[in-house]
Amino acid sequence: MQSLSLDIDVTPNDAILWRDDNLYLLDQRALPGAERFVVCPDAQTTADAIRSMVVRGAPAIGITAAYGVVLAARARYASSPDDWRGGFANDLAVLAASRPTAVNLAWAIERLRRAADVLDAGVDPVPALLAAARAIHATDRADNRRMGAFGADLIQGPTQVITHCNTGGLATGGWGTALGVIRSAHAEQRITHVFADETRPWLQGARLTAWELARDGIPASLIADGAAAARMAQGGIGWVIVGSDRIAANGDVANKIGTYALAVAARYHGVRFMVAAPTSTIDLQTPDGGAIPIEQRPADEVFNCAGQRIAAEGIGAWNPVFDVTPAELVDAIVTERGVIERPDVHKVAAHMAGN
Ligand code: MRU
Repeated sequence: MQSLSLDIDVTPNDAILWRDDNLYLLDQRALPGAERFVVCPDAQTTADAIRSMVVRGAPAIGITAAYGVVLAARARYASSPDDWRGGFANDLAVLAASRPTAVNLAWAIERLRRAADVLDAGVDPVPALLAAARAIHATDRADNRRMGAFGADLIQGPTQVITHCNTGGLATGGWGTALGVIRSAHAEQRITHVFADETRPWLQGARLTAWELARDGIPASLIADGAAAARMAQGGIGWVIVGSDRIAANGDVANKIGTYALAVAARYHGVRFMVAAPTSTIDLQTPDGGAIPIEQRPADEVFNCAGQRIAAEGIGAWNPVFDVTPAELVDAIVTERGVIERPDVHKVAAHMAGN
């Protein structure tokens, strides 16, 4: 993967760029130490970038995959204008396999597949697919703002909140899901302080959420993941606010490992638990949390910190990078369409049907 510095003012809201017919991804592995981009010339490099965490966060993964589909179509059409669809289907499968839990990935690829299906044979697919990818990107940004407003309305502030992983501009098309709610609520003086879990093992909280909060000037403290329950016990925390990689039809929520423990602790301490996610994260085909595929990543991620082995030799590791929070522990799911309070299968279905 080729890395380079772009001559631009890097912001979390522009972590995915389509410029001069190329896809550029802000390399989130290097943040906050370095602000450099990775260039993705083709679908395989795009899939590699998703798998290796150059880009991460469910909506951002979906947007990136959509541009990856454009790159795939461009290459297949250039080499075989009359018969580009065969290899193209394979490229889509490669992209879809890059990370299993975030359903936004499959959702975005399916959107692009449908846009390709209606094209006449021999027509250059790139303009139509690029328009579809750009629409997904722009819609996600706009949806984040709506989610931010709906989520902020729920917070009877001023209060303090706890968040987990990174759900901001970096993880989306811009603004964020849970962090978008926090931004909107802070702007309305409903949130006075944010406690951000560091989020082992990739430290998305310490590296990425801290970077975004500091840039925004939102008062925040970093806490070890294990400190969250103790912080709740001290009082003053109104909400835990998190994002999601997949919400099942019954309202069970898959999100970064450690989210479930936060939800259990929140219920015990009388702290409310909010999940902010676009409807593209709700998967009606997955009946409940038990059916959500949970990504397992290499043991080295647990053994090491910043590339340095920390763990003693001779130990094994268990590294599921997401967990499932049962719907009964969720007080509210906030989407771009509104709020599902105390979600269950009926309320989720009604919300998705637009009722
Ligand atoms: O492994 P990651 O960094 O991709 O995990 C990201 C999360 O768990 C986020 O909370 C989720 O994708 C929602 S992002 C808006």
